[in-house]
Amino acid sequence: MTALQQNNLPTEIIIFGASGDLTHRKLIPSLFNLFRKERVSNQVQIMGFATRPWNDATFREEMKNGLDVFSSFDYQNEEWQAFSRKLFYHSGNFIEPDDYVKLAERIGLDKPVNRLIYLAAPPKFYVPILENLSAAGLLKETDHWVRVVIEKPFGHNLESAKSLNQSVHQVLKEEQIYRIDHYLGKETVQNILVFRFANTIFEPIWNRNYIDHVQISVAESVGVGHRAKYYDGVGVLRDMFQNHLFQLLSLVAMEPPASFSAEALRNERVKVLSAVRPITRQEAAEWSVRGQYDQFEIAGSQTPTYAAVKMFVENWRWQGVPFYLRSGKKMPAKSSEIIVQFKCPPHVMFPMQTCDSLSPNRLTICLQPNEGIHFQFEAKQPDTSASMKSVHMEFDYAEAFGVSAIPEAYERLLLDAMNGDASLFSRADAIELAWQLVDPILESWEMDQQPPLAIYDQHSWGPKEADEFLEKDGREWYHECGMEHNHKMRLVTPW
Ligand code: BG6
Repeated sequence: MTALQQNNLPTEIIIFGASGDLTHRKLIPSLFNLFRKERVSNQVQIMGFATRPWNDATFREEMKNGLDVFSSFDYQNEEWQAFSRKLFYHSGNFIEPDDYVKLAERIGLDKPVNRLIYLAAPPKFYVPILENLSAAGLLKETDHWVRVVIEKPFGHNLESAKSLNQSVHQVLKEEQIYRIDHYLGKETVQNILVFRFANTIFEPIWNRNYIDHVQISVAESVGVGHRAKYYDGVGVLRDMFQNHLFQLLSLVAMEPPASFSAEALRNERVKVLSAVRPITRQEAAEWSVRGQYDQFEIAGSQTPTYAAVKMFVENWRWQGVPFYLRSGKKMPAKSSEIIVQFKCPPHVMFPMQTCDSLSPNRLTICLQPNEGIHFQFEAKQPDTSASMKSVHMEFDYAEAFGVSAIPEAYERLLLDAMNGDASLFSRADAIELAWQLVDPILESWEMDQQPPLAIYDQHSWGPKEADEFLEKDGREWYHECGMEHNHKMRLVTPW
């Protein structure tokens, strides 16, 4: 850490887009919880900036309403009272330079405070906001630091992401920029690193010699609802793959970093993305599936709400191991999971057993819900000569750490940004590499209309084309985390 990052000055947080959904649902509840837990200093101040003509009192009231609907923790009224006194609101227009001058006057540029600026406004305003902040002197560092958290989506394709990176770099140094992906803030996602690199037994088998394939699934039971208008031009690849799914892929596939530092971790994540073979526009017809749930809110829309994609990480460790990524809305359950399917034993000595009849070992990392890790292996059925049953070794977060042990992802990320730890944020190169992988698929879907958009029933696991997609490879999708485990029993001829 630099001396700048370590200073003891109080922090002022400015949220652009303070009247929006994210601020109500996630940012204020997370900041409040950090405040209650005394993880942030009592001197913290939060200034909301948005166009709505609110004042401090309305902002506090609105945030309290949001808290009551969206927070997952109980709190005392006095705690809220103490926190709400830290909340302020400045009504302004994102593209009006004068409003930033007024903001600067109000908060006082000469005050010795660090400044954390959070862009939760619509992305088209990111550049004007930063330019106006810069012109008003609000991005200038002296004895204090200034950091900017930028919400996704970061661009809508490679070209726009590059151009956004360039614009942002005009007014900020890379180390001031915190591109956020809330999946990296999830405890269970961070635990992938601990699971892999704080234990000895998994890493030696974490490669092409032992692993048949990997499935990364993020299923949501909700549809796009009131976000339909926004979502219509975006779709599942931009909304979920370019960021969340690729982050998960990076963590599963990365090499062990030499240290737990931000640069080492981010370097290894980037190396994975640069080793993924981009699917060509022509291949996308075969290597991807796109679907839309029946009765999507916008009639006639071609926007996919479901996608499944096969990708390969072309390096020594992963040569030939398919990674199947999928995500969809209006699925039967909310469930984010990573499944590592191991290979069949090299020699099956049990009578009447073949690789097809054995259930190969399977490791399931349940990111949400039922957070935990399960390992499936074969056990001998008692009182038979060689009947087998697949059983599970289970680790359950709630059991091990208590039901309310897992904090909201934004708590971790906001705290890290305040502490100057960028490990869980994306660097410019990672963002651009991810777009490089998504762009050809988008081109095939949007320009060539390939593969055709498949309509799936609401609350199903996606279109039948997605099942056929894996069947062609002799594999099937697993849905383990939202569900009861399906312990299969197979009988073999007695010895
Ligand atoms: C967001 C997407 O980034 O992640 C949403 O924009 C999606 O469409 C959400 O619903 C899912 O996040 P989580 O944490 O509920 O899995």
